Amino acid sequence: MICANNIALAYGKQVLFKDVNIMFKPGNCYGLIGANGAGKSTFLKILAKEIEPDAGDISVGPKERIAVLRQDHFAFDTHRVLDTVIMGHEKLYSIMAEREALYAKPDFSNEDGLRSGELEIEFEEMNGYDAESEAAVLLKNLGISENLHGRKMKELEGGEKVRVLLAQALFGNPDVLLLDEPTNNLDILSIAWLEDFLFRFKNTVIVVSQERPCGNIILEVEGLSKTIDGEKLLDNVSFTVNKKDKIAFMGNNSLAKTTLFQIIAGEMEPDNGSYRWGTTISHSYFPKEHQGYFNRNLNLIEWLLQFAPPKEGESFARTFLGRMLFSGEDALKTTDVLSGGEKVRCMLSRMMLAQSNALILDEPTNHLDLESITALNNSLIDFPEVVLFTSHDHEFVNTVVNRVIELTPTGIIDRLMTFEAYVESAEVAKTRELLVKKAA
Ligand SMILES: Nc1ncnc2c1ncn2[C@@H]1O[C@H](COP(=O)(O)OP(=O)(O)O)[C@@H](O)[C@H]1O
Ligand SMILES: [Mg+2]
Repeated sequence: MICANNIALAYGKQVLFKDVNIMFKPGNCYGLIGANGAGKSTFLKILAKEIEPDAGDISVGPKERIAVLRQDHFAFDTHRVLDTVIMGHEKLYSIMAEREALYAKPDFSNEDGLRSGELEIEFEEMNGYDAESEAAVLLKNLGISENLHGRKMKELEGGEKVRVLLAQALFGNPDVLLLDEPTNNLDILSIAWLEDFLFRFKNTVIVVSQERPCGNIILEVEGLSKTIDGEKLLDNVSFTVNKKDKIAFMGNNSLAKTTLFQIIAGEMEPDNGSYRWGTTISHSYFPKEHQGYFNRNLNLIEWLLQFAPPKEGESFARTFLGRMLFSGEDALKTTDVLSGGEKVRCMLSRMMLAQSNALILDEPTNHLDLESITALNNSLIDFPEVVLFTSHDHEFVNTVVNRVIELTPTGIIDRLMTFEAYVESAEVAKTRELLVKKAA
């Protein structure tokens, strides 16, 4: 955890910060955005304690280490590539350097012996013996081949230097990682690698970026398989959901789609494979079967308040019920008298209240009358984040989606296009035919 407390800084008359209080929590990835000259780089330097603010201070959890992606591409010119990476962990590097200097001494005194004993203990505690191999792995992942590891930094090209400096920042798994426009001068492959790295990174990231802070990845599904009662429903299903995707899941087998949703909603374990939600994503799930939510007999306001923050009351509940067309007297109906469509509308009110940024909806249009479908349709069109859903209502699907994923027994078809275009695509039809043949 890293906290800025009452930070103020001005350069002459230019006030950059005043009374800045902010807490960055572990496991989160923060994007710092703002116009040129707004003070993003300066703020990062204050967090890294490279610049003293005029007032206030930065507090960091005990034993937490902050690492910074350096932007000065010449600062390490006289150092070897591998050493430059290890220098990312300043303490370890200084111990390493002192240790080597001691061992190189021709006149090794008793005192030196004691000191080297101390250093040895610290060196081991910091995994010093693995440092070189860990640095080499990082470099390799970033596409810096082994023959460059022993070269001096000044011998590298610009793009290579950026990647070495990135490896330096990532070295030794810091608790807080500060990145100032890390994608500048990076090629597409390294950007993809970095996005994926930040996506998986468990600690705090604070990144200044014009685009794609914290990676675009919302959900990553890898090799999911599931067989239920002898029927293989999912076979090695992989896809990545990106920002603002609205995906319709198609396919003849509705149990396969429901199974996939249950798995990514965390309600069922897959036989094989894995999935991972982005660290800033909260998802909510509308299951096809939801009778279990209505076992207690309550009026709709009481029912909905079960899912609301404790401080909220009737007017809060009415706002969300109103969006799903329960107004006035309707909100006092009791759950035992609800029709199927009304239950669906209750469930949708509950989802909206959760304020998630990813919605998973399994056949939400079933049981709904036209007016309710329109209300739901409009709210999904307006929803600024991610929607994953299934529906038999083609008009509904067509107005919402930008992407279609079709599940077949022998693989998926995944296309970034409207539903209409998907249905009419000759290429998709051909792909489907090939998949069917594969099954036979
Ligand atoms: N040492 C300094 N002395 C005077 N002005 C500075 C100094 N460092 C930065 N500035 C000014 O502070 C503002 C913020 O700079 P910076 O943090 O680099 O912006 P950015 O948001 O683009 O990263 C700029 O107007 C810059 O010129
Ligand atoms: Mg800057």
